[in-house]
Amino acid sequence: MKAIELVSFSRDGLHHVDRNMPPAPGEGELLVQIEAAALNYRDIEIAQGRYGMPVSLPLVPMSDAVGIVRETGKGVNGFRAGDRVNPQFFPDWRSGPFEAGYFSRQLGGTIDGVLQEFMIIPALSAVHAPRHLAAEAAALPVAALTAWSALTEARVLPGQTVLLIGTGGVSLAALQIARMFGAETIVVSSSDSRLEQARLHGAAHGINYREHPCWSEQVMEITRGRGADVVVETGGEKTLPQSVRSLRTGGRIAVVGYVTGARFDIDLREVFIGKRAQLLGHTVGSGSQFEAMNRAFEASGAVPVIDSRFALHDARAAYERMASGTAFGKVLVMLA
Ligand SMILES: NC(=O)c1ccc[n+]([C@@H]2O[C@H](COP(=O)([O-])OP(=O)(O)OC[C@H]3O[C@@H](n4cnc5c(N)ncnc54)[C@H](OP(=O)(O)O)[C@@H]3O)[C@@H](O)[C@H]2O)c1
Repeated sequence: MKAIELVSFSRDGLHHVDRNMPPAPGEGELLVQIEAAALNYRDIEIAQGRYGMPVSLPLVPMSDAVGIVRETGKGVNGFRAGDRVNPQFFPDWRSGPFEAGYFSRQLGGTIDGVLQEFMIIPALSAVHAPRHLAAEAAALPVAALTAWSALTEARVLPGQTVLLIGTGGVSLAALQIARMFGAETIVVSSSDSRLEQARLHGAAHGINYREHPCWSEQVMEITRGRGADVVVETGGEKTLPQSVRSLRTGGRIAVVGYVTGARFDIDLREVFIGKRAQLLGHTVGSGSQFEAMNRAFEASGAVPVIDSRFALHDARAAYERMASGTAFGKVLVMLA
């Protein structure tokens, strides 16, 4: 079968290889034919050798995929041949709170990922994809699930205001999920054209952060001085101080990313006296959260925003598109 291996942290690090087909699935396992994979910011960091965790090479990269079950092993319940499934990013995190040990096994990071035509997946770490989605479901495992756990754990309610930083994969998924919950969204972005696209996907308000570097002032104006109830913080160093200032008293910041840097410098009195803010950290989500999210996508009919699709033989171009920072929506690599 065809696969891609990352063999070095360089521009030419992605190699096309032929691998043996996986053996028949063992007890509790599924043989899955991967249809499509979706890139995340993390995959670029890994390919460039600047991911925060050790990665050993060669590695089958990428974590996010959707595929069709071709065969089930003994004792598998809940899945049959022909089902469309997503593998979980953290294969061991079935439900409940996150445990530090789950970090040691991450698809496309510490263990081989999804850029291969077939793979064996334990049934306990697979979830049914939403029925109305095909290849677009590849976009769900990391970006959307992170947005889902951010918004559900921040307990977003109908009518509340959710602030989204940028128009990357996590923010666009959060935009769709916030709408499912009946929340109003404000998006900050580098360009008016991206803000216009976000509006077409349901954003109620947009702020250009290049025109308005102190964009918390605009957020306060839009919310009539109240502030946002929840911020999905993907920006990090350069955006977190503005996010704190954009918050209503007692609001919540779901801290999920660090696109502008991982450190931040802020007067803590602004955080806990000024805003009585709650900062909650998130790492993707569990299998049971993933199932709940896929049911919500199915019930709402939402379709993840897709920027572009590349054939497997063009995987390098897909990486370049993602690394360019100009994609609006997820970049897919098609395997079937
Ligand atoms: N905790 C987790 O489990 C988890 C899961 C997924 C991702 N993440 C992290 O979350 C972050 C976002 O991931 P992603 O996949 O959405 O990335 P992405 O698709 O690459 O999007 C990044 C976006 O950040 C925005 N941005 C860049 N500089 C900015 C600035 N100065 N101010 C405001 N926005 C700015 C840009 O929006 P515009 O183009 O609109 O300006 C860009 O589109 C990354 O740090 C990633 O590692 C964490």
